[in-house]
Amino acid sequence: MRDKIVAGNWKMHKNAEETEDLLNDLINKLPSDAAVHIIVAPTFVNLASAVQHLEYTNINVAAQNMHQAESGAFTGEISAGMLTSIGVTSVILGHSERRAYFNETSELLKNKVDTALKNELVVIFCFGEELKDRQEGTHFELIEKQLKESLFHLEEKDWASIILAYEPVWAIGTGETASPEQAQEMHAFIRKTVEDKFGAGVSNHVAILYGGSVKPDNAQEIFSKPDVDGGLIGGAALKADDFVAIVQAAM
Ligand code: PGA
Repeated sequence: MRDKIVAGNWKMHKNAEETEDLLNDLINKLPSDAAVHIIVAPTFVNLASAVQHLEYTNINVAAQNMHQAESGAFTGEISAGMLTSIGVTSVILGHSERRAYFNETSELLKNKVDTALKNELVVIFCFGEELKDRQEGTHFELIEKQLKESLFHLEEKDWASIILAYEPVWAIGTGETASPEQAQEMHAFIRKTVEDKFGAGVSNHVAILYGGSVKPDNAQEIFSKPDVDGGLIGGAALKADDFVAIVQAAM
C-alpha cells in the first residue's frame, strides 16, 4: 500500500499576510493525525515564513520551481541550495505552466531534476498531454516521451525522491477533470512504463498524483482508483475548507 499525498500548488497567489492566514486556517482545520502526506507550495517570497509557520505540523513545504545551476549569474533565479537552506524539502518541476509560458523543455527539466536530487530535494515531477494529443490519440506516446526524456536517466535509488504528478493540460484550471477512469487508465500506463524500465520495486513504490481541477466533490472518486496516490491541487488549494475536504477525501 502506498501512502496518499495531497499537495497544494498555490501558483502566483497569496501575499505574505494572505499566506499566513491560509496556513493558520490549514493548521486549525487539517486533521493532525491524517495518514496523508500534506504539502503546500506557496510562492518563493513566502517559503521561509511558511516553513517557520509549519514547523511543528505534519505539513511540508515545496517550492514551485528552481534553477538548474547550483549558483551563478542568473539574475532573478533561485537555487536548490537556497531552498534547502530555509527548510524547503521538495520542489515542483515541469508544471505545464512552466513548460508552456517559460519554455521549459524535457532536457532542461532533466537537468533541474538532477540538481534537485543532488541537493536532497524531493521532486514532484509534473507532466501531461494537451487536448490535441488526446484527440489525436497520441497521449500515451507523449506521456512516455516526457517520462523518458526527463527521468529515464535516473538510477533506481533516485526514485525514492521522486513523486510523479500526471496533469492533463486540458484539465488544469478549466473545471474539466479527467474522469476517474481516464485518470486510472493513464496512471496504470505510467506505472507500467516505469516498471518496464526500472522494475516493480520502483514502480510499486512511486506515488503518482493526479492534477487538474480536483475539487472536494470529485476528489474521493479519483483518489479511490488503485493507481492514483493523491492529488496536486491548484485552485482548490487556495481555500482552506476545500483543501481540507480534499485531504479528507484521500484518507
Ligand atoms: P487546478 O490546477 O487544480 O486549478 O486545475 C492544478 C495544477 O495546476 O497543479
